[in-house]
Amino acid sequence: MAEGKTAIVTGGSRGIGREVSLRLAALGYDIAIVYVGDENEATDTINECEKKGVKARAYVCNVASFEETKAVIADIRKDFGSNIEILVNNAGITRDGLIAFMKESDWDSVLSVNLKGAFNMIRHTAALFIKNRCGRIVNISSVSGLMGNAGQANYSASKAGIVGLTKATARELAPKGITCNAVAPGFIHTDMTKNITEDNSELLKTIPLGRMGEVSDVASAVIFLLSSPYITGEVLRVDGGIAM
Ligand code: NAI
Repeated sequence: MAEGKTAIVTGGSRGIGREVSLRLAALGYDIAIVYVGDENEATDTINECEKKGVKARAYVCNVASFEETKAVIADIRKDFGSNIEILVNNAGITRDGLIAFMKESDWDSVLSVNLKGAFNMIRHTAALFIKNRCGRIVNISSVSGLMGNAGQANYSASKAGIVGLTKATARELAPKGITCNAVAPGFIHTDMTKNITEDNSELLKTIPLGRMGEVSDVASAVIFLLSSPYITGEVLRVDGGIAM
């Protein structure tokens, strides 16, 4: 079905991005992962994708950098060709702290990776999507961006910014047949949330479905949006009901 088509997944080396990459590989997409950090995690994800019979490659690139993202898209086109159909902007970080004490560098790094990173990747793929008259973009937001979360002013702002970026991009690229949507997860079991445990009954009380989510819960929503040609500008919550 997706033979010869490529999907780019930022932060695809682990967590939610890894699961999205594996699901897309199972659908037959060649996979280009963009990440920073642990090479072993990225290699493992690539190997698992290749076992599904597709081509897969990992690229070390800081999505916060305009120049690095420009270069990585050029490298991906060289390696995979120009039939890039999917971009999943999933790379993200937290640097939590109370706003009265938040370091300027923590504000800047979270906004740069989470929000500017998504802009950078869309900026450097949009012309190709327009030329191909085809493209599906999913950005990973968060319920923190929809509701705000104390101690996460930087993260909440970045994820709210993703909602605006998603809707503006959706409107701008819709005439070219390109869709852009967002998924807003709640508390999902990954390395990012390893300090949050379900012994924390106060946390569970805030989740109507009474449990944290799994990466598969988020990946299913991403795949749904990627395979829905008549949905654009949508923000789909995957949060057990937290933000309803
Ligand atoms: P994770 O920490 O397990 O993985 C993050 C991924 O992003 C890694 O592959 C890492 O290499 C990549 N990354 C980080 N900084 C990068 C940079 N500067 N350039 C390129 N890649 C970079 O995180 P997790 O939990 O899988 O989260 C994925 C996305 O989902 C993030 O955007 C996060 O904000 C969002 N999210 C996660 C939730 C959770 O409960 N885990 C809840 C709501 C949203």
